[in-house]
Amino acid sequence: MGETEFIDKLVNELTLDEKLSMIHGAAMFHTEAVERLGIPELVMSDGPMGVRNDFEDDKWIPIGNSDDYVSYMPSNSALAATWNRELAHSAGNVLGSEARGRGKDVILAPGVNLKRSPLCGRNFEYFSEDGFLTSELAIPFIKGVQENDVAACVKHFALNHQETERLWVDEEIDEEVLRDTYLYVFEEILKRSGSYSIMSAYNKLYGEQCCESKFLLNKVLREEWNYDGCVISDWGGVHNTKNAAEASLDIEMSVTNNFDEYFLAKPLKKAIEAGEVDEKLIDEKVRHILLLMLRLKMIGAGEEKPSRKKGAYNTEKNRQSIYDVASESIILLKNDKKLLPLDESKLKRILVIGENAERLHSNGGGSAEIKALYEISPLMGIRKKLGGNVKVDYVKGYASPPEENTNNGTNWQEKSLESMIMAPEMDGVGDDKYAMELAVLKSEAKKAAADGKYDAVIFVGGLNHEYDIEGRDRKSMKLPYSQDILIKELLSVRQDMIVVMMAGSAVEMGTWKDDADTLIWEYYNGMEGGTALSDVIFGDVNPSGRLPETLYYKVEDCSAFALGDFGGKEKVHYREGRLIGYRYTEKENVPVQFKFGYGLSYTEFETKDAEVSKDNSKVTLKVKNIGKYDGKETVQVYADNGEYKTLCGFEKVFLKSGEEKSVSIEIPERYRSAKTISVGNL
Ligand code: GLC
Repeated sequence: MGETEFIDKLVNELTLDEKLSMIHGAAMFHTEAVERLGIPELVMSDGPMGVRNDFEDDKWIPIGNSDDYVSYMPSNSALAATWNRELAHSAGNVLGSEARGRGKDVILAPGVNLKRSPLCGRNFEYFSEDGFLTSELAIPFIKGVQENDVAACVKHFALNHQETERLWVDEEIDEEVLRDTYLYVFEEILKRSGSYSIMSAYNKLYGEQCCESKFLLNKVLREEWNYDGCVISDWGGVHNTKNAAEASLDIEMSVTNNFDEYFLAKPLKKAIEAGEVDEKLIDEKVRHILLLMLRLKMIGAGEEKPSRKKGAYNTEKNRQSIYDVASESIILLKNDKKLLPLDESKLKRILVIGENAERLHSNGGGSAEIKALYEISPLMGIRKKLGGNVKVDYVKGYASPPEENTNNGTNWQEKSLESMIMAPEMDGVGDDKYAMELAVLKSEAKKAAADGKYDAVIFVGGLNHEYDIEGRDRKSMKLPYSQDILIKELLSVRQDMIVVMMAGSAVEMGTWKDDADTLIWEYYNGMEGGTALSDVIFGDVNPSGRLPETLYYKVEDCSAFALGDFGGKEKVHYREGRLIGYRYTEKENVPVQFKFGYGLSYTEFETKDAEVSKDNSKVTLKVKNIGKYDGKETVQVYADNGEYKTLCGFEKVFLKSGEEKSVSIEIPERYRSAKTISVGNL
């Protein structure tokens, strides 16, 4: 029997109650099974950085077993910083195999919203400000996930670019800009990755809730893109029974445990019985769910139950892939005195400073939180690399204020539909005791840094998941905990201090950046992050990361603030149009700390003989490694349409010292009408 016939047969046999039980949550992370007809429950789990720990079915109480520690992956921003499609695929494979291994059917990832502003609390979960880089990496990532018979769930559809009042904020944007700057990223991803599911966003678009949007779900997704995958609401994104029934949303999920009262549960049954909603609309939803289950080999149209991948979590192979992504994601921004890589044979004693050298990040960030099997901090990475032959001293330098436990033990998400801006930003301003603590830590660190006995000093700072977090946006790009003053003072006594910034998006570094000879940027980098960082610092790895976002001097230089607006509680206006990120700063020559696509290597590369085909469909060139280290270069190609430049091609290539390779880069159709196509960084 064919799939369509099989699905039709099941739909005809299902009662209304059974159909309704399939289209809304029966628990926080799964729907109801229909045992009678052999239809299993659909089990979902967050998130983009690994498989989130389990909760009780009807309460946000973690089921604290010893068996749900999992691999903790680099963030999607870190993955984007690799500019490496093969690594994106292997990262997807890790996530898919871990999800299957944990018995999940849908993994709620990747997040592909663009980094329209550096202040969005969830930027760490997203790839880039650039739609082309995002789609080029999200596509192999999703394929990697789904090779494990697990559905990816592209999120959040669409324009979920801020956390402030995320349930209600209404996005005002010119429709053409919406389509060719934002929706096209989802379209490319869905069409080229074959993602089996997509998550509709919390916010509104043109006054409609995205989870109930006939424009987004019926017109664009189904009619224009012919998408036949499963649409899952964000958790609590549905607000009206009739609207959700008539929109092409398939499954309503939420954060409350009144499952029978969900909008697509009893209220929908009442609406159908009252003739207000046609049951055929429910049949459509059930069809998408059954097709998803067939694709995942959860059910089979034939006699035999199809054999489904079993997956595996916490494997050595997964950890190796995680390390590979982490090590290629690290971005060398400055190495003015060629201090890096450090030669450990010449070191007797080094000093490490900064809370982020020892702070663990896996258990934060919101729904992307992970109960990590382990997490190697930068300090552990350095200590375990150097072993007992080098003395590694550590001083904190700065500390975040004690975290107020604002949810008395339950998970923050239980309240996530009520208090839109979660726990107040804990920067401790105005707390004298805390200020005193910071002063003591700073003077201790400065004294240590000034001590001539250290052969090297490494500072690790930046942000953490009190700032890079779901549910709220940052108020500014400033570094918290008075780090900028601390860094400047430390550099005043130790200019060769190696500064490492760890964050989910741009931070202000202007007050000290020029004082630092050596500067490394990294995103939340998973369980092997500390190993990867120390391998870069000590030269086992030649850094090859490139920035997937613009590091502005100040947030006012970002077009979402310079032209549009961000963080509004009711409406957000995309007055910047297509000029997102570097498109704006390049066009207006706005100075930035570091440009999109920027990153250094321990070696040098030379490109030559670049040629663009007459029809702008292909670029060929030669790349040579003229330095003494083997390394990876990312060749970038930009299209200029006369109004702005945009990335239209890239290729990462490994070159041994002295090696030269020819590179050929295909330019997608949509960029070939550009006035000029150019090779090289911005
Ligand atoms: C959250 C997030 C979404 C997540 C879901 C389940 O509120 O917006 O990304 O997958 O709910 O936790």
